[in-house]
Parts: sequence; structure tokens; C-alpha cells
Amino acid sequence: MLMQTVQTTPIADQKPGTSGLRKKTAVFRASHFLENYVQSIFDGIEGVLGKTLVVGGDGRFFNDIAIQIILRMAAANGAAKCIVGQNGLLSTPAASHLVRLRQADGGGLILSASHNPGGPDADFGLKYNGPNGGPAPEAVTNKIYERTKVIDHYKTCAADDIDLAIVGMQTLGNMTVEIIDPVEDYAALMQKIVDFDKIRALFAGGFTMCFDAMHAVTGPYAHTILEGMLGAPKGTVINGIPSTDFGKGHPDPNPAWAKVLMNIMHSTDAPDFGAASDGDGDRNMILGRGVYVTPSDSLALLTAHANLAPGYQDGVAGVARSMPTSRAVDRVAERLGIGCFETPTGWKFFGNLLDAGKVTLCGEESAGTGSDHVREKDGLWAVLLWLNILAETQRSVAELMMDLWATHGRCYYARFDYEDVDSAKATEVIDGLRPKLPMLAGARIGGLQVQMADEFSYVDPVDRSRSDGQGIRLVFENGARAVFRLSGTGTQGATIRLYLEQLETDHSRLQEDPQKVLANVRDAALTLSDLEAIIGRTAPDVIT
Ligand code: G1P
Ligand code: ZN
Repeated sequence: MLMQTVQTTPIADQKPGTSGLRKKTAVFRASHFLENYVQSIFDGIEGVLGKTLVVGGDGRFFNDIAIQIILRMAAANGAAKCIVGQNGLLSTPAASHLVRLRQADGGGLILSASHNPGGPDADFGLKYNGPNGGPAPEAVTNKIYERTKVIDHYKTCAADDIDLAIVGMQTLGNMTVEIIDPVEDYAALMQKIVDFDKIRALFAGGFTMCFDAMHAVTGPYAHTILEGMLGAPKGTVINGIPSTDFGKGHPDPNPAWAKVLMNIMHSTDAPDFGAASDGDGDRNMILGRGVYVTPSDSLALLTAHANLAPGYQDGVAGVARSMPTSRAVDRVAERLGIGCFETPTGWKFFGNLLDAGKVTLCGEESAGTGSDHVREKDGLWAVLLWLNILAETQRSVAELMMDLWATHGRCYYARFDYEDVDSAKATEVIDGLRPKLPMLAGARIGGLQVQMADEFSYVDPVDRSRSDGQGIRLVFENGARAVFRLSGTGTQGATIRLYLEQLETDHSRLQEDPQKVLANVRDAALTLSDLEAIIGRTAPDVIT
């Protein structure tokens, strides 16, 4: 095999964001772009000599070609082995599990732009996960980024493509490539955590469900586990065959993008339970008949009932949520007498807490829920845990939610996204808010009294690393809260996110229209920030 050292020069703007490096597919396909980034990852983790890596992706356009490039580079850099999902497929949680199961000391390379659309004119991404199976911490992503700025060569080799379709061992130079069934190990893990017999009995008793895989990677997992192992009727899984452009859709499981499922669940013959997952299978959406469960509420519900599943029968050690996620889970944690941590946005901040055993469950408002079984959020796991709880309690989704709110109050919640905003204008919004914060405590904005206003900083309780500038928080005295932050995952312009929350404990007001309940805090946040005037918009692009 012919080893090659290719001279290259740094490419501007290879800074990984909230979840790895995400760019337009065309950018990734441009000369040296992927190679530079992959070599920077290898260099940033002190090389891959003799190491084992897990490689797989969500099946989007360029997934297979990128995998061949990565395999050749891994071999040229001296890796001992790459474990690759058949046809290049691995969901993000399954990849995380494999890294842990197979003790892959080189970690994992996950090819995905998550819920962003796929295709030659859409998005691509690459994320590095460390040997604990979780997204690389900032110390590592910073090293990778620093390397991208000075890189002058990368290593590859001339070799035939690996046949990604054939399960088994192949070799690429001195490196072993093991192609594995992407579903098998993951399904075995799920069997240990949730009670498959109980769920099988639930389906056998006529319980109905619709799972929308959104033409993305979860399709094969859902077919095998839900329709195969758990006996849900054929047709329970829709859009279950992964396609390179996700059926030209936007594989983001929220009410805005999963319209098909929303309509099914709000129709007269809606099934008992509905769920969807995103491009790479780490996000989830939960629905009951006529009911949408916000991700923040889902985390609270799973925390309240996790002990019903075998994997959590001894209870939950603690929980964590990202700062903008609603405080619903805080109220459950308080009742259970367990710790509750508030972290910056991005799954990587949960890693240390999970590794240290401080938290068992964690989640984000952006449709991410997970536990210590892997080091990523896990869409299908959340769905299975919900099924376990539904089977044990014999309650409907609507009844479970009403019980949760009656006991803890309801945190009405919404996120406003202003997309593709001019970056300078987006920065102006945040920069404009910052100097106002110290004066705000006690002030009234549009009838709401501010209790606390700050810019969120986080000191990791385990390694004491500090992350500043993680979003602006306005907490009001009546249980309302508004949070502003800039997205770290967009591929075009800037995205401003405004997160709104309002606690309601009055039992007669637990089933109101969220947008009405949130109108006061929305007006206060918009007045204070002048957001829409600065960016020249009159409404957000997406409300979830
Ligand atoms: C978004 C979500 C965040 C999530 C990330 C990766 O990041 O808000 O919760 O961890 O995607 O899935 P953002 O674009 O807000 O930086
Ligand atoms: Zn995702």
C-alpha cells in the first residue's frame, strides 16, 4: 500500500461548534477540507497510532465517500482498527455505545449534521467523540481547532475502497476494518435497560403507535426493535428507510418539521403514542393522542418515573439539564430529593457529570434526552423508556402529563428562532443586552418584575473547567424566564434563540394555549432587547 504525505495549507473557519464541525456539503467536499479536519482531529488527540476507532454516520449524501477518505487516513496514520457500521450507518447513540463497548481508545468519528437537511446543496458534519463515547470536551476541540490553523500536511494512502456492505473483517494496509451490524449491540443494550416483555404485552394488547424515522438513520433501529423484537404491527414505523437527502425533508423532530406525524397524532384515528427521531437518531419527539410533550416536560416525566424501568430500578442519582431547558425537571428533582445540575447548551457538558456518577438522566430543550447508558442523547432510548412507563402505569400520555403538572406545576415553554441573521446584527443584540444586566434586578419590564439577570457561566463541578458567555438569563418574580443565546450549530449566518418559560401552579390553568401564557414574558424580552428592530424582523422563523 502506497503511503502518501500530502502538503496542504490551513482552511479558514474550521472551528467546531456546539456539536462538531458543520458546514455546507460543498464546503466539506472542497479540496483538502475534510482531510485537513480529519488530520487535525488525529493530531489533536496525540495521534491514532495503534488505536481503535469507531466510524459511522447518518447516511446523508457524502457519508460513504467521507468514510472511505477517513479509513485511508486512519490507516496511513497507523490506526490498528476501525469499527464501521454496515453501509456506513451508525446512529449517534449507537456509535457512542460502540466506543464504550469495544473500548475504542481512539474514540469515534461520527459523520452527521444531525437534524440539518442532507444532500449536495444541504449540510454535512463531522463530530469527534472521545474514548468515553461522548462529544469531545472543549479542551480537545480547542486543540483540534488550533491544529486546523497551522496544518501543513496530512497522511493518506492509495488503496481500494472498503466494501461497506459486507459484515466482517477486511484489511486496509496494516489496519483492520471490521464492518458490523449497526443495530445489534444497541438493541442488546436497550434490552438491559427497559422491560421488553412489558412493552411486548402492551402492543399485544392493542396499543398503537406511530414512529416517524424521518427517512434517517433510526429507521433500521426502529424496524428491528419496535416491529421486530417488541411485536408492534408492521407499519408502526414510517419513513423508515434512510435516504441520502432524508426524503428532501428536514429531519428535525419538532412540531415545525415533523408535520406529518403531528397531523397523524391530532387526527380522529390517532394512535395511542407517537414519536420521531432526527437525522442521526439522538433527538426525539414525544406525542400522545392530541398531545405534544415538550422536550423539557419529557425529561421531567422520565425523571419522575424512571424507576419503573429495570435499568433505573434503584432510582436516579441526579439529573442535569442545559440552561435554556425549562425548569420542570428541577421541580421533580426537588421532590425526589436528588441533585439537579444546570449546564451550558451542548451534550459535551453532561459527560463529566455522567462519568462521575453525579447524574443518571439529562436533557436539553432541543429534543435531546439521555442517560448514563451512553454519552450522547438517545432518541430511541427515550421512546422505549416512555413505552416502558406507559406499559407499567397503564396511563395515557395525556394522563401522565396532567399528573405531572398537577403535582409539580406546569412550565409553559417555547423557543423562538431567528435564523440566517446577519452575524454583526446578532452580536449587536447580545452586546446590547450585556451592559443592561447589572441594573435589571428589581426593575419592571412591561409589568414583569426582574428577579435576576446575568450572563450564564459554568464551572464544571468535576474538572473545574470554566465556560463563559453561555447565554443571557432574565428571571422574573412570577416564575417567568427568558433566555437569549446565539446558536453554535448553524451553517448560514447567525441564529438567535429566545427561550421563554412561565410556571403555572394554578390547577385550573394547566391546559392553556402556551403562546398566550407566554405573551407577557415574550413582550418583556423583546422590549428589553429590541431584538426584532435591530435585526429588522417582525417574527421568528420557527417557534418550537
Ligand atoms: C443545538 C441545540 C443544542 C444541541 C445542539 C446539538 O445547538 O440548541 O441543545 O445540543 O443543537 O444537537 P445550538 O444551535 O443552539 O447551538
Ligand atoms: Zn442529532
